[in-house]
Amino acid sequence: MFKGVLFDLDGVITDTAEYHYQAWKKLGEEIGISIDRSFNEQLKGVSREDSLSLMLRYGNKENDFTAEELAELAQRKNDYYLEMIQAITPKDVYPGILELLADLKTAKIKIALASASKNGPFLLQKMNLTSYFDAIADPEKIAHGKPAPDIFLLAAKEVGLTTKECLGIEDARAGIQAIVASGAQPVGVGQKKDLGENIPIVSDTTELTLAYLKEVWREHE
Ligand code: BG6
Ligand code: MG
Repeated sequence: MFKGVLFDLDGVITDTAEYHYQAWKKLGEEIGISIDRSFNEQLKGVSREDSLSLMLRYGNKENDFTAEELAELAQRKNDYYLEMIQAITPKDVYPGILELLADLKTAKIKIALASASKNGPFLLQKMNLTSYFDAIADPEKIAHGKPAPDIFLLAAKEVGLTTKECLGIEDARAGIQAIVASGAQPVGVGQKKDLGENIPIVSDTTELTLAYLKEVWREHE
């Protein structure tokens, strides 16, 4: 049996992936770059700084800004995002997630957060979920963001496990790649066209039950 579950946050625990998109879109409009949902798939799971680089490259503006201006743009996007997430409450937790966290706790399976977001601890608090987590991997402590495995390796380590003993749950292609590279077993939330054909995927978080995760693990063993 698996001994830990490494959770992504944005788009897995709650709908903040949408707010990230809205905030990037708003910033993009201000600097003359128009992004759509299809391009946004590339930003999911990716750090704030790397997302900005991707967006600027997409708009052919990668050489238009000084380091100081880049920092201001990243800050401005985060300010928009922070404004949007202030109103988040426990009601915003995706269906099925609270039950899953409670069942994992009862089964004494470790729970860790492996999010690229520096706003993760704040969001867990807003949703009253902090006490379920045995560890929150700090994205400031890793050298490489998703799709590199670093954040999942750190999350497993912080709960005293190896990634081989863990499942990782992700809604982003970069996140699935990171889980696979880490050696953990991936579970995707979303669609095969975005996440890949050969991994277990649920289309909805209500399907993320402990029984389902056990089934995934049995097939993986
Ligand atoms: C990831 C999101 O979880 O966190 C990305 O999927 C986001 O969209 C990244 O860019 C970094 O988040 P933040 O909150 O630190 O800007
Ligand atoms: Mg995500």
